[in-house]
Amino acid sequence: MGKKVIIDCDPGIDDALALLIAFASEELEVLGITAVAGNVSSDLTARNALALCALAGKNIEVAVGASGPLSGKPCNASDVHGSNGLGNVDLPLTGSVSSRSADEMLFEELIRHNGELELIAMGPLTNIALLIKNHPDVLLLVKKLTIMGGSLGRGNVTRYAEFNFYADPLAADIVLRSGIPIEMYGLDVTNHALLFAEQIDEIEGWGGLVLTQTVAMIRYYQAFYRSKGLDGLKMHDPLAVAGVIDPEITKRTPHALGVETRDPETLGRVLVLNDVEPEAPRNVDVCLEVDQDAFSRLFMGLMKSYR
Ligand code: RIB
Ligand code: CA
Repeated sequence: MGKKVIIDCDPGIDDALALLIAFASEELEVLGITAVAGNVSSDLTARNALALCALAGKNIEVAVGASGPLSGKPCNASDVHGSNGLGNVDLPLTGSVSSRSADEMLFEELIRHNGELELIAMGPLTNIALLIKNHPDVLLLVKKLTIMGGSLGRGNVTRYAEFNFYADPLAADIVLRSGIPIEMYGLDVTNHALLFAEQIDEIEGWGGLVLTQTVAMIRYYQAFYRSKGLDGLKMHDPLAVAGVIDPEITKRTPHALGVETRDPETLGRVLVLNDVEPEAPRNVDVCLEVDQDAFSRLFMGLMKSYR
């Protein structure tokens, strides 16, 4: 059996692609999904997660999480992902969300799997921060937390802040400083994990319902990046999942990190604490190099399994 994971996300088109390769990989056993407000509202991200499970033929519990940040004003990325979060592709919905909240699912499953459960977070870190605040006793049971978020360099919302950290900077600061073993896939590497037009056309050519619907979502995302003059999609969330599937595709360096939670100009900025707080644990392995070709082969190989 593969690595046991719960995926926290805000589908979102790149979240959708990340979920599809997670479902297809024999290296992962996806035990549950928790939805968080981010790209679109938590009602929509939960609906989208359910619809993506149905599209992939997976019966996976989906729990609804936080409907907004721990503090500050909510924001969204509907300009990038469409008003429904999936490029306005209307996926059929079967099933319903769990009776458990995201917090309950995360807490109960961490206890159940007693140190063998990994978490992957691909949206604002509100649900993870609430888990830390509400259940500090289970932190030691988190085998590893892999996050897509942040950037040691430029942001993508402001020059300083990446969307997931900007959307809930307090949550990001709580999570990074928690001492949990974290692997961080920030824009430093995800900006360079691209899916190109010819690869999208190749996927389209494979046919089948899953890939036809997937390409329809991708086309919306592709149009956004084309409007920014980029011939390719930035595969932020899929790279984080790919790194859990095959850790060999990235190189990482341990850091002690925090997040700016007060200064309005740099809100959401990653703060490197290595030198300013020498006693802070270097619990965050920051991925600063990735083998693009290996990522591309892994992604295309897993998507091909849906044809
Ligand atoms: O900055 C990219 C991140 O913000 C991705 O997780 C994307 O889905 C959005 O949530
Ligand atoms: Ca996301």
